[in-house]
Amino acid sequence: MFYGGDYNPEQWPEEVQEEDVALMREAGVTAVTVGVFAWSRLEPSEGEYDFAWLDRVLDRLHDGGIEVVLATPTASPPPWFTLAHPAGLPVNADGVRLTHGSRDTYCVSSPEYRAAALRIAGELGRRYARHPALAMWHVHNEYGTDCRCDLTAAAFRTWLEKRHGSLAALNEAWTTAFWSQRYSDWAQIMPPRATQYLPNPAHVLDFRRFLSDSFLDAFVSQRDLLRTFDPSIPITTNFVQGDWVSVDHARWAEEVDLVAVDHYPDSAGMSAEEQTAFAGDLARSWGGGRWLLMETAPNLIYTPGRMHAKEPGRMIRHSLGYVARGSAGAMYFQWRQPLGGAELFHSAMVPHAGPDSPVFREAVSLGRILENLPPLGDPPRSEVAVTWDAQSWWALQGAGLPSADIDYAAAVRQAHRALYRAGVPTDFVFPGLPLDLDPYRMVVAPHLYLVSDRAADAFQQFVAAGGHLVTGALSGIAEPSTRVIPGGYPGAFREASGVRVTEWHPLDPATPIALDDGSAAHGWSERVELAGATAWARYAGGVLDGEPAITRQEFGRGVFWYVSAGLDDESWRRLLGVVAAEAGVSPLVPDLPPGVEAIRRGSLLFLLNHSSSEFRGIAAGSFAVVEGQGWKALR
Ligand code: GLA
Repeated sequence: MFYGGDYNPEQWPEEVQEEDVALMREAGVTAVTVGVFAWSRLEPSEGEYDFAWLDRVLDRLHDGGIEVVLATPTASPPPWFTLAHPAGLPVNADGVRLTHGSRDTYCVSSPEYRAAALRIAGELGRRYARHPALAMWHVHNEYGTDCRCDLTAAAFRTWLEKRHGSLAALNEAWTTAFWSQRYSDWAQIMPPRATQYLPNPAHVLDFRRFLSDSFLDAFVSQRDLLRTFDPSIPITTNFVQGDWVSVDHARWAEEVDLVAVDHYPDSAGMSAEEQTAFAGDLARSWGGGRWLLMETAPNLIYTPGRMHAKEPGRMIRHSLGYVARGSAGAMYFQWRQPLGGAELFHSAMVPHAGPDSPVFREAVSLGRILENLPPLGDPPRSEVAVTWDAQSWWALQGAGLPSADIDYAAAVRQAHRALYRAGVPTDFVFPGLPLDLDPYRMVVAPHLYLVSDRAADAFQQFVAAGGHLVTGALSGIAEPSTRVIPGGYPGAFREASGVRVTEWHPLDPATPIALDDGSAAHGWSERVELAGATAWARYAGGVLDGEPAITRQEFGRGVFWYVSAGLDDESWRRLLGVVAAEAGVSPLVPDLPPGVEAIRRGSLLFLLNHSSSEFRGIAAGSFAVVEGQGWKALR
């Protein structure tokens, strides 16, 4: 069980470290992540190293019985690097070369940056691979810096040649006949940079794919180097999510020894619990069952406009939520709150107020709870899966789409939230990888915009074999190249769905529209022709009055549902409840009141009471961990 957080002793005088270790022991901390942003301290000038302080940190932690997740510091090149090697700095889409002053100022396509990163990683590997405190390598931090410099342009062209094989194939895939963009030489292709009007969506999407592969290449080169020093030490890097991140985590998951995820719910109340469940289910699915929560906030967290605080008990409940969903522990950003620097008010386990504080007391309680958990088995596989497809996400962030309100991630979250609220355990599946849908009775695929032939076949076979598939708006539209499948939407699923969509009617999200089964929708509607399916619900009012809105088709031994309207949360919950019942899927624990969450891991059932009322002896804001069906015995 990993319990601890990012530890930055380089920010403090050495005496503080004595207190740190004592407090870590008091809190039951088992591991800390060291060195994430310590490059300028470890290599104060090019090729000159200072490891003595880190030796003492690792020795002291080891003496205190605390393990170390040792980071390579390559996310934050020091000022000397950026001055000596300006080509290693990122250039943004406007052609502006960034400089140091923040963090993550690097370009993974720069040979100078890559060489410097491997050099410091190699020095760390040589020196610490056999240190008894070392539990895991943590390469870099949250890969994601987007660079569009000339070095990146050259690397992008090489990547494109490999992907498309020929310029003719690229011209076809990118539809360069539109707006006279036909390329007659690879050298003409640039990374997407500031341009006059809408960029070519295929160009933009390929660039994001390229970035994901380039970051992965940078990770793999450090990983392979570190492995040469002691292959038994697991190696990971922390995944981060956000609209800006060009990392296809489902693919990356195959390359790390343990999937590690940073997760910061960006709101308070039940939304934070739903986000926690979403992140935990996604990470568990990336990791094939096992993963590690590498960072979250103990208290105040940066959210747009204003930070918000976690109320007492939430740090514990969130951590248990992640652990119940398969995390090998709970790690925080950060151990001790810094007195300066850009994130000086970001919360920590030891806050500015010191250990005599609610957050440290909660950290101590959490340590006891984690220490005393019975042995944890594996999380069971769910009977329901939701699709997560980074490439459809990126494609739906492009320009030229029919509505600025299209939000892939929000659509997937909404489907997951509906299942969460219904108490139905949920996995994620990744259509960009070979799909194994056999374990599932029901799959929900929101906004699955890009669909390969292979994925289309897998979904069709899933339904034919008895599965229940729910998809709809903006799904099955285009091939992975982004070229539309003609003949009516949802092109890739036309046969199995039994519908043919001939028109989209984007709506103002503020104006609700009704369906005749009582469902409410907003933001999106479509003209749906029945081509075998039957109408489950029809539009009631507006231009599409009386036209099918939700359809159902029996296909083979299963059922294909098509949802053309942007349903609200309650309507999604009701519809998915109907589909789940037909599919023979039931909630993990029946009849839980809203705000009470049940999660199974091995033989243990975690019951988290996020509500403001007591539930069967579990106080508001508290939790219980019971064996097997033990919840039945709770009063
Ligand atoms: C990320 C980073 C940390 C820190 C936190 C703040 O997860 O890895 O260094 O910036 O965000 O929330």
